[in-house]
Amino acid sequence: MAGNRTFTMIKPDAVSAGNIGNILAMINKAGFKILAMKLTKLSSENAGKFYAVHSSRPFYGELCDYMSSGPIVAAILEKENAIEDFRKLIGATDPINAAEGTIRKLYANSIAENAVHGSDSDENSQMEGSFFFSQFERF
Ligand code: CMP
Repeated sequence: MAGNRTFTMIKPDAVSAGNIGNILAMINKAGFKILAMKLTKLSSENAGKFYAVHSSRPFYGELCDYMSSGPIVAAILEKENAIEDFRKLIGATDPINAAEGTIRKLYANSIAENAVHGSDSDENSQMEGSFFFSQFERF
């Protein structure tokens, strides 16, 4: 199923603003099937591990603090062309640059608190999904 799965998180800002339902509705309406999903909270250590690829960036500390600041929703999604289509649905990383009607345009606060994560490659989608879900938790 290469290319047909992606991993997402609804981030602490969107969860605390009460937007889980709105964002999941957009994901479903866009044709994604939910294969695994959980409401959970990252420890600071696990946020650091998840975003290790960004460890040399100036915003890494802020990112880890923010991502461990409250509950998140983690999910594995399935759809043809999942990575690209999901990135279109969520919009640009910075909501200022996100297209009208995208999840980040509608619900993100800033480039740091940007409502949702979406994998950028098949390889990362696989790694990120495995970070949160065992094989027994996926459908
Ligand atoms: P995400 O798609 O989860 O991948 C990396 C995250 O780092 C990104 O969303 C943002 O939340 C965050 N990020 C990227 N660039 C910046 C930045 N310039 N300042 C603060 N946070 C950033």
